[in-house]
Amino acid sequence: MIRWLYKRVLKPILFKMDAEFVHDVFIQLGHRAGKWKLGRWLIAMAYGYRGPSVEKTVDGIRYSTPIQLAAGFDYNGKLAHVLDCVGFGGEEIGSVTARVCKGNEKPRLKRMIQSQSLVVYKGLKNDGVEAIIQRLKATVKPEGFVWGISIAKTNDAQSADKQAGIEDYCYSFRRLNEEQIGDFYTINISCPNVHGGEAFTTPEMLEPLLDALKEIPTTKPVYIKMPINLPWATFNQLLELIDSYPIQGLVIGNLNKEYAHADYPEEAPATYRGGLSGKVCRKLSTDLIRKTRETWKDRFTIIGCGGILSVSDAMEKIEAGADLLQLITGMIFEGPHLLKDISRAIGEREDGGN
Ligand SMILES: Cc1cc2nc3c(=O)[nH]c(=O)nc-3n(C[C@H](O)[C@H](O)[C@H](O)COP(=O)(O)O)c2cc1C
Repeated sequence: MIRWLYKRVLKPILFKMDAEFVHDVFIQLGHRAGKWKLGRWLIAMAYGYRGPSVEKTVDGIRYSTPIQLAAGFDYNGKLAHVLDCVGFGGEEIGSVTARVCKGNEKPRLKRMIQSQSLVVYKGLKNDGVEAIIQRLKATVKPEGFVWGISIAKTNDAQSADKQAGIEDYCYSFRRLNEEQIGDFYTINISCPNVHGGEAFTTPEMLEPLLDALKEIPTTKPVYIKMPINLPWATFNQLLELIDSYPIQGLVIGNLNKEYAHADYPEEAPATYRGGLSGKVCRKLSTDLIRKTRETWKDRFTIIGCGGILSVSDAMEKIEAGADLLQLITGMIFEGPHLLKDISRAIGEREDGGN
């Protein structure tokens, strides 16, 4: 019923409206509903997972389900008190930046309906790390729900050069650790929509960033959000560098910059205006997960992200070697019940294996 209502009634209406407007409305609705016991109960009744246990502990953190909301949806941490009711075991809040970030010029979110993808040109819009720390300190953290914080550099001319960019990342990382906000941190080196381009995805640029971050004491797992448009040899060079730092894992990965990879490239903007999420990320990210697991065995925790639009997409990522999953676009195109379906499939598989 819930599935039918979303796909046949709600989605056709929502998909006629501006994508960023719908995103903002859902954040407001979720934020308010999550403050009320009744709101939380209703959401949990509709979407909460109640099957065989899918609990998992990764890097010492216990997840009630292995599915997280990927970075970029709850960019200001306004849903951090309610996403557990939807069936998420955790989320990546952000990406947060050292200073307030207005984001790129609108329009900055567009659907490619046939391609099952979104064109994302948000440009790291967020309230800045200080405001987000204060918001999270004032938020009641749901029992067993994991808060990861994604950290990027402020998207403006001031942080565009290398040293200022590194200081920007370090400021947020230091402040979050000082305040002990967040269960894990992800360093987003691969946002394709920022001033000066995707700066920290070469070994020459990544090394000084990791050197600087290493000096900041942390007791939490740290992950790197990887780009997916690199050939394996270049991707692996980054992993060889990351291996020599106290980095526990990788989120594989970010948006796809290649419009020609979409099923219907004619739905994409005529010139580059942001990375693509959804189906167009699925194969690239899964292949990189598989190669990373084969090559690096258990060295890295792998969070599989990109194009999970069905139960089989999720299982494919787990079989390729992902320890945990993240998604956004599947929830938008298929509806939030997708999470419950994935958890059930994982639960039944594990139950059958016992
Ligand atoms: C609206 C939107 C905003 C995003 N913003 C961020 C961000 O701030 N930081 C980040 O690391 N990834 C960001 N991403 C990328 C997602 O975290 C994810 O890597 C990508 O969407 C692929 O997953 P999906 O196919 O399940 O959506 C964003 C994606 C979307 C759709």
